Amino acid sequence: MSEEILRVEGLRKRFPGVLALDGVDLSLRTGEVHVLLGENGAGKSTLIKMLSGAYHPDEGRILLDGQPVEVRTAGDAQRLGIATIYQEFNLVPELTVGENLALGRPPRRFGFIDVKAMHRQARELLDRVGLDLDPRRRIGTLGIARMQMVEIAKALALNARVLIMDEPTAVLTTSEVDKLFSIVRQLRDEGVAIVFITHHLEEIAQIGDRVTVLRDGRSVAEVPANTAEDELVRLMVGRPIDQQYPREPEQPGRALLKVSGLGRRGAFDDVSFEVRAGEVVGLAGLVGAGRTEVARAIFGADRYDTGEVTVDGRPLPAGDIHAAMAAGLGLVPEDRKGQGLVLGADIAENLGLVTLGDASHGGFVDRSGQRKAAAKVAGQLGVRMSGLGQEVRTLSGGNQQKVVIGKWLLADVSVLILDEPTRGIDVGAKVEIYQLINSLTASGHAVLMISSDLPEVIGMSDRVLVMARGRLVGELPAGEATQDTVMALAVTEVEGTRVQ
Ligand SMILES: Nc1ncnc2c1ncn2[C@@H]1O[C@H](COP(=O)(O)OP(=O)(O)OP(=O)(O)O)[C@@H](O)[C@H]1O
Ligand SMILES: [Mg+2]
Repeated sequence: MSEEILRVEGLRKRFPGVLALDGVDLSLRTGEVHVLLGENGAGKSTLIKMLSGAYHPDEGRILLDGQPVEVRTAGDAQRLGIATIYQEFNLVPELTVGENLALGRPPRRFGFIDVKAMHRQARELLDRVGLDLDPRRRIGTLGIARMQMVEIAKALALNARVLIMDEPTAVLTTSEVDKLFSIVRQLRDEGVAIVFITHHLEEIAQIGDRVTVLRDGRSVAEVPANTAEDELVRLMVGRPIDQQYPREPEQPGRALLKVSGLGRRGAFDDVSFEVRAGEVVGLAGLVGAGRTEVARAIFGADRYDTGEVTVDGRPLPAGDIHAAMAAGLGLVPEDRKGQGLVLGADIAENLGLVTLGDASHGGFVDRSGQRKAAAKVAGQLGVRMSGLGQEVRTLSGGNQQKVVIGKWLLADVSVLILDEPTRGIDVGAKVEIYQLINSLTASGHAVLMISSDLPEVIGMSDRVLVMARGRLVGELPAGEATQDTVMALAVTEVEGTRVQ
């Protein structure tokens, strides 16, 4: 048995209105992957932020190699050999990939930053994570999956003894997860101690050695990673979950969303499909297949060059979000921080962002009505909060995502496009969201769901459309969609379209 490198004893942390950690113990060994498991808001990120110097505990101790240590700053953590990949990325969007990878310690020659050397180092790091990317590219132009891989590369550069990864796979697809796991295994075999947070239970047995379960800010169990999923769920949620994908299909009605011949040069081409009232249509594909781009174009967040979008028979002007929303279209974007939330505002305000217009009576905003509706949807989604007045910035990652979804549920749109809706959401809360999707379609709404989580797309869609390299390459009815059939389509080579 390898030795203990890091030990956490009785950590407590209080924020205004919440006791985030209420006595947490953790024991981490060299050469192990230790999974932290817990519901949204259980305290996982708070715990690791105390190991990385972002927060300071109110009570409790952190021991490294048996010695109590103070981790007051990120610099302390780095000196102690602790590197962290945060759930909320720490990249600077305005800077290039190379600059981000060199942050803090760019190579210098004669006192000047040695750009050539910086790019060479960046390429080496990108190679390690299997990312074929020009280091001169600005971070802000990358999709979220590639940002995550850059973030991982950045942490690898620190050659840490303890590597903490807060939901690194949340935004990755299967092939990227495979790549990440091979890196993690290699580091583990070199003796690095790894803390790994994930809401994807199937990953635990694949990559983990031991699991510490957090519930309501307390560590409630430490079990081997090959513990049955049912048992892990019971430990984290406190009750078993009967049906992970409770889809109840409806008889489809008229076409509410019609997309014909949609194309944008260099991005996607000739995309045509419809979503009918009562339907959930899934859009599957690899990262870079063009799913998010198509969704954003439909919603008017980006332009398109050819084709047409109609909602309930009426054509939408291209590139006009307001017209799209007025026509009854909604989009839950994949990047909640950049596009879905006002982080400095409170939960009630965020939930009201889309509905504010409707809630006004004779020019006055019906604040109490709005608050009531917000309270209801926050309750349905089980948002873990100190109250509707809590700033969204201070919610846990999964609870922020619930607010993004809640905002659109309140808006009562006729067609809702969900781009990675359950990213970062715990297993129990996922089922609540699926049930809300069911109630949307039961009342005649249409849902287009993009998801990289294959079991979810397959489990919740009535039909699955598959995109590859900017084109729709196939459609599978619910009964024929399996991981294999979807993946076989997703890797289709399409002639004459863009290469990433
Ligand atoms: N800066 C803060 N101010 C106030 N409350 C906070 C702050 N940071 C975290 N919290 C609260 O502490 C609790 C634990 O949050 P934490 O982010 O650790 O959860 P988590 O287990 O990482 O959840 P998730 O799976 O959603 O990422 C939550 O109730 C959250 O709202
Ligand atoms: Mg978290």
